[in-house]
Amino acid sequence: MTLTLQQQIQQFYDASSGLWEKVWGEHMHHGYYGASGTERKDRRQAQIDLIEELLAWANIQQAEQILDVGCGIGGSSLYLIDKLNASATGITLSPVQANRATERAREAGLKERSTFLVADALAIPFPDQMFDLVWSLESGEHMPNKRQFLQECYRVLKPGGTFIMATWCHRPASPPNNPPLTSDEQQHLEKIYQVYCLPHVISLPEYETIAQEIGFQSVRTDDWSNAVAPFWDVVIGSAFTPNALFGLLRAGRTTLQAALSLGLMRQGYQRGLVRFGLLVGGKPED
Ligand SMILES: C[S@@+](CC[C@H](N)C(=O)[O-])C[C@H]1O[C@@H](n2cnc3c(N)ncnc32)[C@H](O)[C@@H]1O
Repeated sequence: MTLTLQQQIQQFYDASSGLWEKVWGEHMHHGYYGASGTERKDRRQAQIDLIEELLAWANIQQAEQILDVGCGIGGSSLYLIDKLNASATGITLSPVQANRATERAREAGLKERSTFLVADALAIPFPDQMFDLVWSLESGEHMPNKRQFLQECYRVLKPGGTFIMATWCHRPASPPNNPPLTSDEQQHLEKIYQVYCLPHVISLPEYETIAQEIGFQSVRTDDWSNAVAPFWDVVIGSAFTPNALFGLLRAGRTTLQAALSLGLMRQGYQRGLVRFGLLVGGKPED
């Protein structure tokens, strides 16, 4: 039976999220190792530092209603509720993640200020202008239609609200300034797509153009590849402990395959092909 991309993503996260939480904790994203990637620190602290650095970079100091697009098990949502004294709604394709995020919110005493549900970011099930912060941390790479993804994030933002995204990109590849991707680079990306259930990634300048065309104002972008690349060495180190290996075998083929292919991301950063892109933009006031 051929699964749709959505079903593949759902099954991937349904199967792997429990193990990830056990080995790594609630954050399913890169860590931040200083601007040049040379700081050494506890891996969980590195992930929290990434959230803090994103907030500082985007100058986000307050929010009342947050939408966390691709929320995982609610790592960012609960952190942001606490940090910004806000309420948050998280959406994910994985029922296992939505349930676990809800359970974690209850455990943290944040149930009244959070909602987690299974929903598609390409058809966000909320009316226009509901949220003053739309946050997407490492979910954009899964979206088959990047324009529709940004369009939906824009639609649900209140005027004056902020959208921030951090996502996997490929290097800029538009001539004449940047050579097109070589077939070897394209093949490397295809392997990453297959292992991590990604339809395709685009470059950061492409995201910037789309955001501007949609109507976001004061758009800024940045490339934090150097700051986050050491994450993959740490993940590789953690994957091959006896406990993790046992969990990997139990989690099934796709999770095991993802673990065995961690080197693809490390090499992707090393050759400058894989990039960690940031974008922030505002919705104009009415
Ligand atoms: C790498 S995890 C990141 C989780 C979380 N943002 C974090 O940093 O801990 C990617 C998330 O994107 C979600 N996702 C992927 N495609 C999606 C879509 N079309 N709609 C909603 N969520 C999606 C997955 O279900 C998963 O929760």
